[in-house]
Amino acid sequence: MGTSRLRTLRQEFMTIAAEYMQQVGYRQKHIVLKRNHSLRVHALARHIVMHEDVAWPEIAVAAALMHDIGRFPQYVQFGTYRDDQSIDHGDKGASLLAHTAVLRDFSSRERQAIIQVTRAHNKRDLPLDLEPCVRTLCQVVRDADKLDIIPVVLRSMKPRDQRDSVVTLGLEDAPEQWTPEVLAVALSGQSPLYTQLCYLNDFKILLASWGPGLTFASSRKLFMRRRYLERIQALLPQVAPLTELCERLARSLAA
Ligand SMILES: [Fe+2]
Repeated sequence: MGTSRLRTLRQEFMTIAAEYMQQVGYRQKHIVLKRNHSLRVHALARHIVMHEDVAWPEIAVAAALMHDIGRFPQYVQFGTYRDDQSIDHGDKGASLLAHTAVLRDFSSRERQAIIQVTRAHNKRDLPLDLEPCVRTLCQVVRDADKLDIIPVVLRSMKPRDQRDSVVTLGLEDAPEQWTPEVLAVALSGQSPLYTQLCYLNDFKILLASWGPGLTFASSRKLFMRRRYLERIQALLPQVAPLTELCERLARSLAA
């Protein structure tokens, strides 16, 4: 999978990130955060395509690298990663890719696929009119994206004075509070919406709910091997409703 056009794309991606870092000056750690996240999602997508039957593996890996390219202009312009308070970063990234030469080494069909994945990767539901092979690419990127976001957010949930509110979305840190509707959605086997989150515990519930919803068996295996559910549970209040949720999610993951 170490094709020369993937190597060129990685170099191009690093150059783009460096340009945005220059624009934000001392706040560049937030651009670095998304740059490094994209590189890890790229590596996770490679892991998934090596273990699954994916028809277009090189394009999946390329799309994983580019999926969050819209995060850079979003942060430069708005200083936040909350789409509901700024712009849709998937749409922004798709437009950026469509109007620059960054994908010049790819055929028109491959470029369109990468742009479609970038636009769709953060939508609650994938568009119904996606070609099956593009839908599969989206599923690879969405699994890889979730697998990487979880430890990033957990690391940022440190004691209050070290917390990075850009990563934790400025949510309220009330150690014993959660939103009943968020828990109810997770108990029903769905994932809550970002817009439903009020407390940090709601965010933890959202992250935990992602496990059973991962598309590929290799993704769910990684979720279990990295002990994400146990790590999230350790950060939640040790009370019956939340213990019940974690037990239910563990059963679904193992099924
Ligand atoms: Fe991402």
